[in-house]
Amino acid sequence: MVISPDLEPCILVIFGATGDLTQRKLYPALANLATKGFLPDRFAVVAVGRRSKTDSIVREEARHAAGFSANTVDIKARDRFLKRLHYFQMDFDNREAYQGLRAFLAQLDDAYQTQGNRIFFLAVAPQYFGTIAKDLHFHGMATNVGAWQRVVVEKPFGNDLTSARQLNTQLTKTFGEQRVYRIDHYLGKEMLQNLMVVRFANTLFEPLWNSRYIEEVQITVSETVGVGSRGPYYEAAGALRDMVQNHMLQLLTLIAMEPPVALDADSVRDEKVKVLRSLRPLTKAAVTEQVVRGQYGPGSIDGETVLGYRQEERVDPASNTDTYVALELYIDNFRWSGVPFYLRTGKRLPVRSAEIVIRFREQPGVLYFAQKHNTLGPNLLVIKIQPEEGIFLQFNARKPGTQHTITPVTMDYCQNCLEGLDSPEAYERLLADVMRGDSTLFTRWDEVEYAWDFVDKISHVWEEMETEIDIYSAGSWGPRAAERLLARNGHRWLLPFQCLLSDRPIPLNEESKIREGIRR
Ligand code: BG6
Repeated sequence: MVISPDLEPCILVIFGATGDLTQRKLYPALANLATKGFLPDRFAVVAVGRRSKTDSIVREEARHAAGFSANTVDIKARDRFLKRLHYFQMDFDNREAYQGLRAFLAQLDDAYQTQGNRIFFLAVAPQYFGTIAKDLHFHGMATNVGAWQRVVVEKPFGNDLTSARQLNTQLTKTFGEQRVYRIDHYLGKEMLQNLMVVRFANTLFEPLWNSRYIEEVQITVSETVGVGSRGPYYEAAGALRDMVQNHMLQLLTLIAMEPPVALDADSVRDEKVKVLRSLRPLTKAAVTEQVVRGQYGPGSIDGETVLGYRQEERVDPASNTDTYVALELYIDNFRWSGVPFYLRTGKRLPVRSAEIVIRFREQPGVLYFAQKHNTLGPNLLVIKIQPEEGIFLQFNARKPGTQHTITPVTMDYCQNCLEGLDSPEAYERLLADVMRGDSTLFTRWDEVEYAWDFVDKISHVWEEMETEIDIYSAGSWGPRAAERLLARNGHRWLLPFQCLLSDRPIPLNEESKIREGIRR
């Protein structure tokens, strides 16, 4: 492996190594990092699990898992990583077993000269966070003296503010806030990192980035998948806790934050927290008016018939869990006063897409705007997060060859279409950042706390009201109420860019048909 100068030697210890996250995300990410030469030269990985396995079995699993990478993996580099992958069997609840782990890691320190630096990746259910952290501490594996030890945790980080606080106390007691890396994998996505650059490195956008020039902001994360085999988790979470509390609010903070004083982790996160603090709290009446929830019923996607949520495996047949949420939010600060931020996310929608649309205000209704025959469109800036990554800009120009007809035209930058570019996957970037000790792309505790507080208020109102959830057909754009949410402000959801690229028919509701016209 190529020596990466800013990466210190370390051992990555993955608890829960046989789980889905390790197989689908972590092993492919490690294979990609090896391919790009972004692993430290003195490095090893220890997969920790309960089952009895040998190093060679685990290496075979990782070799197979590396095939999930969307990028080109160099076989030689991958094999060099596999050689450094070891297995350690233990029961996380068994205190004695940590003694064995400690000795094993010390042996590897000698073999790979990793100097006692450790990353503990807890790819396990949150109820184990506390036990693992406590026992690592008890056995002197997280002292942070003479070497560093960091801990990485995945969502769900609690199920509400109270449970999140408990988890946090358990982790920070051992590691301290500075050494806790809470993953929100959306922050590892390429365009989210690009978002700050686009905003703060261009004269073009920043002066217009406020309520004087922006009419509305839309954030859409739509998925075609259903709940799959995650019924029990999802029943307790729903789209609000699964997507809005974390990914959606993170997108919102990056769009709305002020320029940070510096690019270090705390300066950036200080600004993100200010956005969360400025979110207008939703009263009971506001939840009823400004939040729409829905659940997918049976339907069809891509010509395939799919089950409704209530028919899914290990889901209550009378479940009231939300698989779709749309919200109209306001940020009560100087920059954003009065600008609606519309957020929507749902499963079993017609396309997989994540994007942010900034719609600028229109020019005064004179000159070209006063001419009836013109079909002027709004100025739109679309940040395409996935599957296509890039930026799309729409503005008005004269239609060539005509006398005075004005028409919307577009400029479209597709970042992941650039030839030879293997856009790093989210976990690749995030793992590299933990190794570097850069926590900018991880959520700080106060971000998590404000986000839970905001979301808890909504779920409490839902619980109190006990109203029947709106059922939408799988493959549609969600409940009609989500269209009405925007319509009363004279706005409408913009059809995700992905629909325009698709060669299959995408269901269009009346609103979207109009939008398609605008967007082309
Ligand atoms: C996860 C949610 O955090 O994000 C899933 O738990 C969701 O329910 C997933 O499907 C979406 O991530 P991505 O990267 O596929 O958009």
